[in-house]
Amino acid sequence: MTTLDATALDLLFREARSQNKWTDEPVSDDTLREIFDILKMGPTSANSSPARFVFLRTKEAKERLAPALSSGNTEKTMTAPVVAIVAHDPLFYEHLPRLFPHNLDAKSWFTSNPELTEVTMFRNATLQGAYLMIAARAVGLDVGPMSGFDNAKVDEIFLADRGWKSNFLVGLGKGDPAGIFPRSPRFDFYDVCQLL
Ligand SMILES: Cc1cc2nc3c(=O)[nH]c(=O)nc-3n(C[C@H](O)[C@H](O)[C@H](O)COP(=O)(O)O)c2cc1C
Repeated sequence: MTTLDATALDLLFREARSQNKWTDEPVSDDTLREIFDILKMGPTSANSSPARFVFLRTKEAKERLAPALSSGNTEKTMTAPVVAIVAHDPLFYEHLPRLFPHNLDAKSWFTSNPELTEVTMFRNATLQGAYLMIAARAVGLDVGPMSGFDNAKVDEIFLADRGWKSNFLVGLGKGDPAGIFPRSPRFDFYDVCQLL
């Protein structure tokens, strides 16, 4: 098979839904490693791979997150089998000699240019968050992405020791269809695309 079949496209995109309620079915650490081993292969500029991930798997870990959540996101986050904090490392460029060995100058593009560093980090780490969601769906999980939380609080509670910064959260597990909202419309091709 050189292209994905209709079932795979449905699984990844066409039938996949953002989840608001979860079943109790657990997500193993092996599954989280499997997801990571898929998502890490997604492209990033200069292979910079600036995303960092913290997987909250226990009740205790999720309870530490609770004070940072918006009220509308609290219940669905607390009941998700796993919650991933998608974050990024502002010092991502320190790893470029290892990650981009064919150009050992790459690190210097960033050490001298904070604007480029910021935009490269945010662009590519966000892409990696998307790869995480697609990889999770590919291994049979559902996802519930959320940006309704206090990033500074999450950074303080979970990320301060490493200096990482949070971007968004992703609930991971088997969704309960009872929590799904009606599908919202999407743009048509010519609403948002140009062919030049
Ligand atoms: C980055 C991101 C942040 C989101 N933040 C929230 C959120 O804070 N709370 C929430 O209930 N849904 C959130 N959503 C879910 C979106 O509303 C949902 O993905 C969108 O309406 C499409 O729904 P569908 O995938 O079921 O078609 C977020 C989605 C993304 C990708």
